[in-house]
Amino acid sequence: MNEKMIKQIKDNPKYYGLKRPEGKILLSSATMHGDEEKYVHEAFETGWVATEGENIIIVEKTIADYVGVKYAVGLCSGTAALHMAIKLAAEKIYGQCRPNEGALAGKKVFCSDVTFDASVNPVAYENGDAIFIDSEENTWNMDPKALQKAFEIYPEVKLIVLAHLYGTPGKVREIRQIADEHGALIVEDAAESLGARYMIKGQWKETGGIGDYNAISFNGNKIITGSSGGMFLTNSKEDADKVRKWSTQSREAAQWYQHEEIGYNYRMSNLIAGVIRGQIPYLDSHIERKRKIYEKYRVGLSELPIKMNPYDTINSLPNYWLSCLMIDEDAMTRQCRGEKDYLYLSEKGKSCPQEILDVLSAYGCEGRPIWKPMHMQPIYRNNAFITVDGNGRARSNAYIECEGIDVGKDIFNRGVCLPSDIKMTDKQQDFVIEIIKRCFK
Ligand SMILES: Cc1ncc(COP(=O)(O)O)c(C=O)c1O
Repeated sequence: MNEKMIKQIKDNPKYYGLKRPEGKILLSSATMHGDEEKYVHEAFETGWVATEGENIIIVEKTIADYVGVKYAVGLCSGTAALHMAIKLAAEKIYGQCRPNEGALAGKKVFCSDVTFDASVNPVAYENGDAIFIDSEENTWNMDPKALQKAFEIYPEVKLIVLAHLYGTPGKVREIRQIADEHGALIVEDAAESLGARYMIKGQWKETGGIGDYNAISFNGNKIITGSSGGMFLTNSKEDADKVRKWSTQSREAAQWYQHEEIGYNYRMSNLIAGVIRGQIPYLDSHIERKRKIYEKYRVGLSELPIKMNPYDTINSLPNYWLSCLMIDEDAMTRQCRGEKDYLYLSEKGKSCPQEILDVLSAYGCEGRPIWKPMHMQPIYRNNAFITVDGNGRARSNAYIECEGIDVGKDIFNRGVCLPSDIKMTDKQQDFVIEIIKRCFK
């Protein structure tokens, strides 16, 4: 945003008199506690600075225990963990692939639609064809009814990639049941939802331990971080061993470098693991702080024509990684987004995500649009998209008035991610709330 735009916003009578409190107001940044440095230092002192060492062993064991799985493999990113999970699932279903072919060559995979593209890109890395499944209004995650429709249209599909958006678990019970009915495997993308739980058969189950192959992320903005890093989680020793092998260049047991499979340089470094080791004891307190942030927004914004990002209050415990809002349909001012630019009208009593984001930004607060759905992304525009009505593409008719359901597009159009930083003070959050209130003046 340039100086002229900032001035225009600050001169607008709607925002007149706003006084910004001191300090950064961020979306979600790393919150360090001190122990991280100690473990990184130990790695230096002992010389274990590469992809082996005590920090890795300890974080793998601690995270596996926390999530309730038998095995965890530390990797360099959540994206790498997803790639390994998707490749492993693909080889399990379709067999070992040739080195110059992806394990999903010519195969279709059902994927979450409103998510970061790292959830689904590994399908393309393996030459697969992602089919996007619309979201549901109750959790903003994959809609089990749309998934059911997708199996009616593509009964041959054997793999589902399911992401838990912003720390809110998707309807895993229903999705598992549908997957089982069709003999499909589930890759769970729990990059944003470490510590979030879902009730299954009367017991709380951690996300990241529910799918057949699971991935989490320790990226700098996540609930806990290693500055970067990710982890593959599973109950199968054979699968964990395979990921250890693939992620360290797939060496066979020979004196020399012998290869029978394609390898990757994806393993976690012991330095990164040191940061994660120092963060793990704070995971629950981070979740509690994020919950309080969500609650403060919920109460502070309750008189506005908005709703907070929803979750299943009976069957799920989110980790509240990002607090978001969605503007009621009749309180939306006109907003138009092109490929890279946008326009909106500023109207009395109404607002839109781009206006809220502009005003937040003018006052140095970091918000973010909701993930643009994958089916709307230029790169995936020709991929199939399935809603509760079936095919989600080509739903309008020049001669008959009709419009297809597209929940993901609607969430993108009317939703905003709010500053949700653990270090944000109450005073700073009050300021963010005041800005949002002013947008609807
Ligand atoms: C839903 C989702 N999946 C995957 C990733 C990728 O994780 P990483 O950044 O650790 O590669 C992220 C975040 O970065 C994410 O938000």
